[in-house]
Amino acid sequence: MATKAESKTDPDPATISDLDGLRAASAGCTRCELYRPATQTVFGEGPAHPSLVLVGEQPGDREDLAGEPFVGPAGRLLDKALAEAKIPRERAYLTNVVKHFKFEQRGKRRIHQRPTVGEIRACRPWFDAELRILRPTLLVTLGATAAKALLGSSFRVTAHRGEVLDRRAGPPLLPTVHPSAVLRAPDDRRAAEFDALVADLKVAAARL
Ligand code: URA
Repeated sequence: MATKAESKTDPDPATISDLDGLRAASAGCTRCELYRPATQTVFGEGPAHPSLVLVGEQPGDREDLAGEPFVGPAGRLLDKALAEAKIPRERAYLTNVVKHFKFEQRGKRRIHQRPTVGEIRACRPWFDAELRILRPTLLVTLGATAAKALLGSSFRVTAHRGEVLDRRAGPPLLPTVHPSAVLRAPDDRRAAEFDALVADLKVAAARL
């Protein structure tokens, strides 16, 4: 966790009213320890008035270096799935519930580590502020971490993927799998997993 002295100097995302201001403020975030080894904060990317906000877990190795979400292999697969679902990229804003890459260094490789509940909680004000400013029609969570962050720890993506869930506050939410789960699927399952992701995104497309 950030020390008291550090977190005191962090701006409060809830007080920021525009996306550029939010992005600039997030660059100096020290709300948890993940900022120390990471290259930079990876803030969301996309149009100022998106119909759809897609939210993943955290930036990966490529995203950490590039400073942009979903620019690595999972992002390329997501682009392909969005195109097949006929969701124009210019209507979609991409972000993550955690905005620093969490990894373990093994030799030259940086291996992805799942963020803790405390790290997700520490980062949450940035995501809440993004949503408050963007006001999308629909939110799509990619994978279990994002879904559980927004719907509670007992939520199961497999039980509700592709369903549009109305919530008490905020836009309706459609959970689906993370594109990296499609990449990790065994060879003989990968095409079917990709088609299932596209099918979920088509449900989202119909709501836009
Ligand atoms: N995986 C994510 O969840 N987010 C990214 O930005 C990249 C990979």
